Amino acid sequence: MSPTTQVSAADLVTALLRDDLRGQTAYGAPQLDVAVRLNTNENSYDVPPDVVAAITAAVADVAVHLNRYPDRELVSVRKALAHYLTGQTGVPLTVDQLWAANGSNEVLQHLVQAFGGAGRTALGFTPAYSMHPNIARTMGTTWVDGTRGAPSGTFDLTAESAAEQVRAYQPHLVFLCSPNNPTGTALDLDVVQAVLDAAPRSLVVVDEAYAEFARPGTPSAVSLLADHPLLVVTRTMSKAFALAGARLGYLAGAPELLDALRLVRLPYHLSDPTQAVALAALAHDASLLRTVEAIKAQRDRIVAELGALGYPPVPSDANFVLFGGLVDAPATWQTLLEHGVLVRDVGLAGYLRVTAGTPAETDAFLAAVADLPDSHRRPTPADPSPTGSPPLPQEPHP
Ligand SMILES: Cc1ncc(COP(=O)(O)O)c(C=O)c1O
Repeated sequence: MSPTTQVSAADLVTALLRDDLRGQTAYGAPQLDVAVRLNTNENSYDVPPDVVAAITAAVADVAVHLNRYPDRELVSVRKALAHYLTGQTGVPLTVDQLWAANGSNEVLQHLVQAFGGAGRTALGFTPAYSMHPNIARTMGTTWVDGTRGAPSGTFDLTAESAAEQVRAYQPHLVFLCSPNNPTGTALDLDVVQAVLDAAPRSLVVVDEAYAEFARPGTPSAVSLLADHPLLVVTRTMSKAFALAGARLGYLAGAPELLDALRLVRLPYHLSDPTQAVALAALAHDASLLRTVEAIKAQRDRIVAELGALGYPPVPSDANFVLFGGLVDAPATWQTLLEHGVLVRDVGLAGYLRVTAGTPAETDAFLAAVADLPDSHRRPTPADPSPTGSPPLPQEPHP
């Protein structure tokens, strides 16, 4: 009998697992079969028929050559992305400034692989996108949870506070998220500029996954690239482009910085079918992005109506809304689920996050919220007999 047969597989795995990963929980937004799924900030609209036809034809074209590896440099995709991002931001960009991978999560991973790791520190401003610390830690990087909200008590991040935290922690990498997930609001460029000034030798990542949904006049950090070789702006086709299933994320940054990413990416990391889908989609960007205005209208409706229902929303530049005023967010999450509406518990005491989707989805969500018993709502000073106390800190729902 082998010496390992009495030991369970779980024990064997745990014993061998890296010390820093033991006891960690995996990313786990629930993928439940529910009528109204508003928990992962996907675009609720199907890919339109003209784009489906273009994608199908493009994938058929590459199918015959799948015996060969894809273009390792993904030049056509990067060219198309440079063209799109130039048009979207008004900042001229060239192919050698664009990088792409399987979702912006993989782009972020490339950045941490190249610039993070053991002995390195990354700083983010919490609450923000949970994969920033997750990716940093899985690469052995020390994560520092910076704060937002000082001195206002809201979720805003001021230039002064961001710069002060950067100076205090001296991180190798700084993560900014604009519009910020889960709070929804975009950053003023003076915050990005203050971080760049405070950390001239650090990699500054501005995650703009939701940029296309921002309110008019919101500038992109792409406009700061020319003067800052250690600044990168990450974007995705998962949200506004309604292509979460295609897995295509990208960044804009200095050509020299992209060379560093070539050291860590796996060879041929972006498959031919993925490149074909991305190219077909980018050739039909106007058609795909047609839903953006409709989604923004639902977002603004959610903000207005949640406020009227007594659940204060955070102003949003994204395709989701964070709302508060809850006595017990996990309990409200469960009650909404029982109404067939799946939202996101992001682990913030008293808050939940809802994605803005179709008008029918908004109807269902708002109806479910309106049906919540009063006991879900934290009493406000305007209520007749206030009994509320601040909610206790809570863990995110699995
Ligand atoms: C802020 C932010 N960045 C990046 C991502 C990752 O997107 P993807 O990997 O689908 O491009 C998400 C997904 O929800 C996000 O919210």
